[in-house]
Amino acid sequence: DDYELGGHPDFMRKEMAEQPEAVARALRGRLDERFATAHLGGLGLDPMALRAVRRVKFLGCGSAYYAGQMGATLVEELARIPADAEPASEFRYRNPVVDPDALYVAISQSGETLDTLAAVQELRRKGGRVIGAVNVVGSAIARECGSGVFLHAGPEVSVASTKALTNMTVSFAMLGLLLGRVRDLSAASGQRIVSGLRALPAQIEEILTEDARVQQVAKRHAHARHMFFLGRVRGWPVAREGAQKLKEISYVHAEAYQSAELKHGPLALIDADMPSVVVVPHDELLAKNIGTMEQIRARGGPVIAVTNAEIPEGLADEVIRVPRGEPELDPILLTIPLQLLAYHIAAELGRDIDKPRNLAKSVTVE
Ligand code: AGP
Repeated sequence: DDYELGGHPDFMRKEMAEQPEAVARALRGRLDERFATAHLGGLGLDPMALRAVRRVKFLGCGSAYYAGQMGATLVEELARIPADAEPASEFRYRNPVVDPDALYVAISQSGETLDTLAAVQELRRKGGRVIGAVNVVGSAIARECGSGVFLHAGPEVSVASTKALTNMTVSFAMLGLLLGRVRDLSAASGQRIVSGLRALPAQIEEILTEDARVQQVAKRHAHARHMFFLGRVRGWPVAREGAQKLKEISYVHAEAYQSAELKHGPLALIDADMPSVVVVPHDELLAKNIGTMEQIRARGGPVIAVTNAEIPEGLADEVIRVPRGEPELDPILLTIPLQLLAYHIAAELGRDIDKPRNLAKSVTVE
């Protein structure tokens, strides 16, 4: 194990550190500057078939589901096709209407998650077109789907998924780009996304150098019993994933909420003992997110802003900064500091980071 850890204290830390190279691998040979698009040969869909896709539905469990939610936003933004995400575990148990014009995407790091596999089988039985977004080559879900996009994250050992999750979202950005470029997405906008994707490995590297700063924030808030994770639109799945990471490895109760929903009930929970992590992308909703932070501060709640925007001095108790890229790709970068935050809170509380209690790396049972 010591050898495999390569000097890192645990696998989660190693896998977070590997993200720049993992993303570079996912992008390798898939970006096309000339036509401002992506090549995902494994999908087995020619331009005509891509153009015929009327809807995209992402299915996965846990963090893979949250990555799917980020994917749905990317596909809607880049390709203007209706897209959504649903937990595969729910999909398999209801009686879903299978749309023959939809593209279903089954997401799984391990490729062995039973709930996701069962959703794929149900889809295939009913004639749905389903592709995989899987990390482990030759896994059950990869085989059952037969086509898809491999994540190329490399082996992931820690129960808490980090680099595989990042590569899922990166892959969905390429899928959105590809679907967009056979529709309305202009060459100039496609080029902007290609450049944005190319910039990611260096930007992730930059975020990882903020580790000591995030550790400081973690130390100050590690003993909170509950935490809110708030975001809207692009920031919402980021908040959900941040809350999930914190819960699973630190056992601190975290609740993710859409920022605008706060005033419809949960605002009552805000006090000095309830820190809120607010995801603030530099986008058209910046003023709204500033309003959210003001609302929390006015009720005495500590605010930890994770942002690539300029926010007014003194508005947040803690600011964790992220480099600015193309707005559509913000969720990818904003997720990384939340991994670090969860990691350092768990470390501060002395948790067994790679093997949290009650959890398995892949859930192959009901
Ligand atoms: C991620 O940190 C979790 N351990 C968990 O939610 C995981 O993403 C989920 O169980 C799905 O696993 P899979 O990607 O291997 O299918």
